[in-house]
Amino acid sequence: MTRQAFRGALFHCLDDPAIAPEAAVYHDDGGLIVDGGHVEASGPWAEIAPALKGARVITLPDTLIVPGFVDAHVHYPQVDAIGGYGEHLLDWLKDYAFPAEIAFENDPGHARATADFFLDELLRNGTTSALVFATSHADSVDALFEAALARQMRLIAGKVLMDRNAPESLQDTAEGGYAQSRALIEKWQGKGRLGYAVTPRFAPTSTEAQLTLAGRLLAEFPHTLLHTHLCENTDEIAWVGELFPEARDYLDVYERAGLVGQRSVFAHGVHLDDGLRARLVRAGSAIAHCPTSNLFLGSGLFDLQAAQQAGVTLALGSDIGAGTSFCAFATMSEAYKVAQLRGHPLHPFTAFYLATLGGARALHIDAHAGNLAPGKEADFCLLDLAATPLLARRLGRAKTVQERLFALMILGDDRAVARTYVAGRLAHDRNAPRGKLPGS
Ligand code: GUN
Ligand code: ZN
Repeated sequence: MTRQAFRGALFHCLDDPAIAPEAAVYHDDGGLIVDGGHVEASGPWAEIAPALKGARVITLPDTLIVPGFVDAHVHYPQVDAIGGYGEHLLDWLKDYAFPAEIAFENDPGHARATADFFLDELLRNGTTSALVFATSHADSVDALFEAALARQMRLIAGKVLMDRNAPESLQDTAEGGYAQSRALIEKWQGKGRLGYAVTPRFAPTSTEAQLTLAGRLLAEFPHTLLHTHLCENTDEIAWVGELFPEARDYLDVYERAGLVGQRSVFAHGVHLDDGLRARLVRAGSAIAHCPTSNLFLGSGLFDLQAAQQAGVTLALGSDIGAGTSFCAFATMSEAYKVAQLRGHPLHPFTAFYLATLGGARALHIDAHAGNLAPGKEADFCLLDLAATPLLARRLGRAKTVQERLFALMILGDDRAVARTYVAGRLAHDRNAPRGKLPGS
């Protein structure tokens, strides 16, 4: 792979700007040198230019270089369930999500085609890493990991564990789900840039026996993550109370099974109180906030400020297919609006942090991804700041970086993602004919 340099505006976060404002770094005339799939240097162009040593230089007017986005909660089989009309969570699962997942039964061709579509859609939107639900079928995980390996993506996924309260063809058993997960971990964990997440769907669809075995997997394979849902919807929470009368609350169901730790990522957490937030902080667990999903299903308004103030590790997720967009700008924009309804603004630096380094931290991949610091893997995108007439006009009038980024996250969409690079290789080019990547 050739050594390349990119010259344009550059933005990334070296830490959480809500805690350390100087950690949000912007260079109007910036640059990035990529060598062997890694970032060799990034910074003001004048500072990195002396180190070019014959690198191929690509000069990018009207372009912002940013780290690839991290989607901290998404269901790949649900691309065909997006836009399911008229239901809240539990009926939506029954009417839309489960049928889309049943389509994976005994159909590896469907799994392969959906995995390819899903990953290409992530890349088209500038998302280079994700934490992904497959279905309860082991071959749905194989299909996704094979497709991610071919694209060299840093991706974490797992087989759904679900041994009750679901259609027969989606159910496994506690022991069967354990054995299949074990085999998948042994096959995929650490292969290329892939990681495995033990993935019980949510408390209502697992017996206590299954959750306990999920906890055993985490103890046996300490590099895996735990990925599930928590406190998304009030009917769901009441149902958990009925199904687990011995538990003091929803989180306690997971705590008793050994599922609440430093490597646990819980989607949603819409209905948390101070006590639950404090327990998540003590455990070092993360919440993936999924605003387009929470609005679409009418689940509620996540209290981002309370979670931040409590010190919860936070990330953003699309939650396709209850979520409505693959695009990180849409997720950031809806997160802003949800926060507005909660009475506080979400600063654009924090929004970009959550969609990049924050997500990488939640997924424990921040040693490799999340920003463009030297030594990191070169996952990044080139954003076209003149992608639409409105974007060009509005950004042309923005006076500060913060105003620019904010207008971008409110007005931007996939048209602004001109190119996406994965480990230094061109993985999406907006202007290439479909299926062709010149210069890769
Ligand atoms: N809770 C359990 N399963 C799901 C799912 O597929 N989507 C969402 N949004 N919530 C869930
Ligand atoms: Zn989900």
